[in-house]
Amino acid sequence: MWNEIKSNITSALVYFREFILFLILVVLTIFLLVDNTSLSIPLIFLLLVVGIIILNLIGRRRIKEINEIKEIISSIRQNKFESSTEIFLSKYLDKLENEIKQMFEKTKSDIEYLERLQKMRSQFLANVSHELRTPIFAIQGYIETLLNGALNDPKVNKHFLEKAEHHTVNLSNLLNDLIDISMIESGEMRMSYRYFDISDFIKNIVNEFSLIAEEKNIQIIFNPPNTGLQVFGDKERLRQVFVNLIQNAIKYTDEGNVEILLEEEKKSVNINVIDTGIGIPQEDIDRIFERFYRVDKARSKAVGGTGLGLAIVKHIIDAHSSKIIVESVFGKGSRFSFKLKK
Ligand SMILES: Nc1ncnc2c1ncn2[C@@H]1O[C@H](COP(=O)(O)OP(=O)(O)OP(=O)(O)O)[C@@H](O)[C@H]1O
Ligand SMILES: [Mg+2]
Repeated sequence: MWNEIKSNITSALVYFREFILFLILVVLTIFLLVDNTSLSIPLIFLLLVVGIIILNLIGRRRIKEINEIKEIISSIRQNKFESSTEIFLSKYLDKLENEIKQMFEKTKSDIEYLERLQKMRSQFLANVSHELRTPIFAIQGYIETLLNGALNDPKVNKHFLEKAEHHTVNLSNLLNDLIDISMIESGEMRMSYRYFDISDFIKNIVNEFSLIAEEKNIQIIFNPPNTGLQVFGDKERLRQVFVNLIQNAIKYTDEGNVEILLEEEKKSVNINVIDTGIGIPQEDIDRIFERFYRVDKARSKAVGGTGLGLAIVKHIIDAHSSKIIVESVFGKGSRFSFKLKK
């Protein structure tokens, strides 16, 4: 009992200054109002007793509240709560309760984010190793077969060498994409923005693809606007974007055409790469920009894709403060569009 009162009062001593000030005021008032000394002395004594009782009550309340907060913090530390709705403090601490709830939510989402990041990192590493293994094993296989005698067989030796070379090209493309991705994601990729003629720029890229498209009997349609339309962006990086999008459009189209359509707007140019290809199922649309994501793994692999192209495209378009939009009807075709500043 005495110990409890002692600790209550000690705890209330943070208000000691206020308490003394209050006492002095009351003592002065008593002296001013009561002339009779024999009455004022017991009054002051009574006042002291009341003061100590009040200090005891204040201290008790303070200890209770601090314990309550301590308990909540220690429960959070021990992961006892699933959600912030389980956190309660007494009525007068509602503001603090809100703060603690917000802190809890923030920490929870930070941890979830870090866990997701960690998972993505391990998945990325697993994907990279898997993708590297395929061409390396293939090259190794061809070389071994050649060394084991096939080298002297004119029916297969050239064919095997060509196959091995094909895989080295894939390997080198993959490594270049990986270097790009890691540079972009670590913020090391420096962009250099300037104005350039978008029509000329696209014309050149379209020319590069004309042979591949012809081989597949696909027509590339590009009707550039008459005036020299200038856009603002990093030409080299945007080249990568166009190459990726046009390459995809050709790769994933069996018949029909690929169109690059420029729509001039007030402050920007809306660029569309449209194809009449296999399209993308609705449930995959949100995922095609993820690293290594391929809708039809077998088909992408057959046409030499690793699923990094669109991840790079998205990063580059994002860096231009723009957004890439996909519309696609499965079996009918796709349209990839984004805006560039004029
Ligand atoms: N125009 C398109 N039509 C249909 N599907 C597409 C189209 N563009 C992309 N896709 C789908 O999205 C996936 C991801 O595309 P992305 O360009 O990232 O990878 P990729 O073409 O397979 O390989 P990479 O570009 O790295 O060589 C593709 O595998 C394909 O399934
Ligand atoms: Mg691609």
